[in-house]
Amino acid sequence: MDQSKHEAIERNAFLMIVLTLLAVSVGGAVEIIPLFFQTSTTKAVDQNGKAIDVKPYTALQLAGRDIYIREGCYNCHSQMIRPLRAETERYGHYSVAGEFIYDHPFQWGSKRTGPDLARVGARYSDEWHKRHLLDPRSVVPGSNMPAYKWLDRPLNMADIGKRMSVLKLLGVPYSDDDIAKAGAEISGKKELDAVVAYLQGMGLALRNVQ
Ligand code: HEC
Repeated sequence: MDQSKHEAIERNAFLMIVLTLLAVSVGGAVEIIPLFFQTSTTKAVDQNGKAIDVKPYTALQLAGRDIYIREGCYNCHSQMIRPLRAETERYGHYSVAGEFIYDHPFQWGSKRTGPDLARVGARYSDEWHKRHLLDPRSVVPGSNMPAYKWLDRPLNMADIGKRMSVLKLLGVPYSDDDIAKAGAEISGKKELDAVVAYLQGMGLALRNVQ
């Protein structure tokens, strides 16, 4: 572009804003749109395109996930292991997009006050998690995680079936039967059971892969 045209753009704030927005939108669209169509981001596969075992959340896990969001656990915990030596040594295989295809919205996060939870599933016993959630310092002396004592109460989520129907609309393959049985699956459970079921399911697909 010759200098006078360049100058005309730089001296006209309005034109500059419009052209900047245009450039950012085109750039953004080129990066974002393909993600909706790539196998690596829409199917349960690892970084090499090999199928991995990722299942939609059970009704109890889904209830736990909603409580996790309600309680703001994501304010201190990420669920995304970065491909950095320090993280893979500590937590296990780095996270791949295919592990999160049923997460709406995903809980990757970036605030790491506590450890990343992406592969915490099956690392501790259910009993450990319950004690830890009700009173973190009883199992990890010196922990600064808050106690969530109120989770020891009945799980009251009458609309769990509806929540699953919404996820179905977003592409999670729940059958009508899964949705019909959801209420029965969570009946008689505590909020604590739901959060633990959610935590215990995290990151299992690549748990034993280095
Ligand atoms: C104020 C920050 C904070 C919040 C909010 C928080 N945590 Fe934590 N969490 C921590 C810290 C710090 C640790 C590490 C010490 C420990 O194990 O208690 C931790 C540890 C954990 C661990 C053990 C991880 C491991 O690999 O050892 C789990 C599981 C966990 N938190 C779950 C939760 C859940 C579920 C919630 C929400 C109900 C939550 N946390 C909310 C700070 C937080």
